[in-house]
Amino acid sequence: MALLKILQYPDKRLHTVAKPIETVDDTIRRLAADMAETMYAAPGVGLAATQVDHHLRLIVIDVSEEKNRLLTLVNPVILAKDGESVHEEGCLSVPGIYEKVTRAEHIQVRAQGLDGQHFEFEAEGLLAVCVQHEIDHLNGKVFVEYLSRLKQDRIRTKLVKQQRETM
Ligand code: NI
Repeated sequence: MALLKILQYPDKRLHTVAKPIETVDDTIRRLAADMAETMYAAPGVGLAATQVDHHLRLIVIDVSEEKNRLLTLVNPVILAKDGESVHEEGCLSVPGIYEKVTRAEHIQVRAQGLDGQHFEFEAEGLLAVCVQHEIDHLNGKVFVEYLSRLKQDRIRTKLVKQQRETM
């Protein structure tokens, strides 16, 4: 397994719309394993393939305290959503920035597992937030884009400065 490099906002590649995965093969399983390793090492609770510059519809999530409930979703789709809730979100591609975002409170999701089999589940709370945040990445959207233009400009300036200092 290998640690992958995580793209940092405002990298334009984060706005790429990911393509569906046609066949869940060993290449996909290896990418998913590398993404999980990268997420745990960061540490983070979710990572989308977009963030490691692979533009395929694949996400990994683990919102458990013990970090032992890895959820890998291939081609995830939100079938239904209801309610509203506000959570403070962060993102491995936007280090050090935490902002409140309003999302659906409950969602119903359909996806494939690493065996290629389809399954459905319902989520709420942190898991629901995380699934919505990661699917946004697959659609080329970063969570800061829910914020005001002024806040986005401030965040962009701060991160560009940070990245220049660490180069
Ligand atoms: Ni993110």
